[in-house]
Amino acid sequence: MSASNPRPLLVYFSRPGENYFNGGRTDLAVGNTKVMAQLIGELIDVDLHELQAADPYSRDYDATVARNVREQDEQARPAIVGPLPSLAGRATVLVGSPIWNVQIPRIMRTFVDAAKWSGIRVVPFTTHAMSGLGGAVEEYAQACRGATIAEGLAVRGERVRDSRPAIEAWLGRAGLR
Ligand SMILES: Cc1cc2nc3c(=O)[nH]c(=O)nc-3n(C[C@H](O)[C@H](O)[C@H](O)COP(=O)(O)O)c2cc1C
Repeated sequence: MSASNPRPLLVYFSRPGENYFNGGRTDLAVGNTKVMAQLIGELIDVDLHELQAADPYSRDYDATVARNVREQDEQARPAIVGPLPSLAGRATVLVGSPIWNVQIPRIMRTFVDAAKWSGIRVVPFTTHAMSGLGGAVEEYAQACRGATIAEGLAVRGERVRDSRPAIEAWLGRAGLR
C-alpha cells in the first residue's frame, strides 16, 4: 500500500500550434488546455502532469485532424513519453484535454487505460471550439473502471484566459477550493 497523497493530481494533454480560433485559425504558442491546467494550478494545490506524445502531433491543423481520424478509426493508444503518473494514494484526479472530433484525443486513452482507477474521483475538463465536453464524460465513465465521475467543465479555447471565475466556481462545487 502506498501512503495516501491528499493533493489532487491533474493529468492533461494539450497541443500547441495552428488551431481553430473564432471561426478562423491562429497559432497557439501554448495550447488552450495547458493554459487552463496552469490556471487551475494557480487556484488550488495540485500536482500537474502533462502527457507528451512520443511521436509529437504536428503543429499543422489539417495534418492533426487527419492523424486523429486515423487514430480514432484504429482506436489507437499513441505512445507517451516517459513513465505514466501513478494514481496510488490519490483521492481525486482531474483529467483535461481538447476535444478532437467530439471525443477526447486517443492519447488520453493510453493513459486512462493503463491507470488503476478504483475508488478515485475523476474530475474531467475540456477545452473546445463548440462541442463542449463532447463524449468526454461518457468515455471516462466507461474507461475509468471503479471511479466516480464528478461534474465536468468545458471551456471554449478562445475564452480560457477569461474563464477564471467559471473555473473557480467549478472547483468550488467539486470541493477542491
Ligand atoms: C484535430 C482537432 C480536432 C478538433 N475537433 C474539435 C471538435 O470536434 N469540436 C470542437 O469543439 N473543437 C474541436 N477542435 C478544437 C479544439 O478542441 C480547441 O481548439 C481546443 O481548445 C484545443 O486545445 P489545445 O490547444 O489544448 O490542444 C479540434 C482541434 C483539433 C486540432
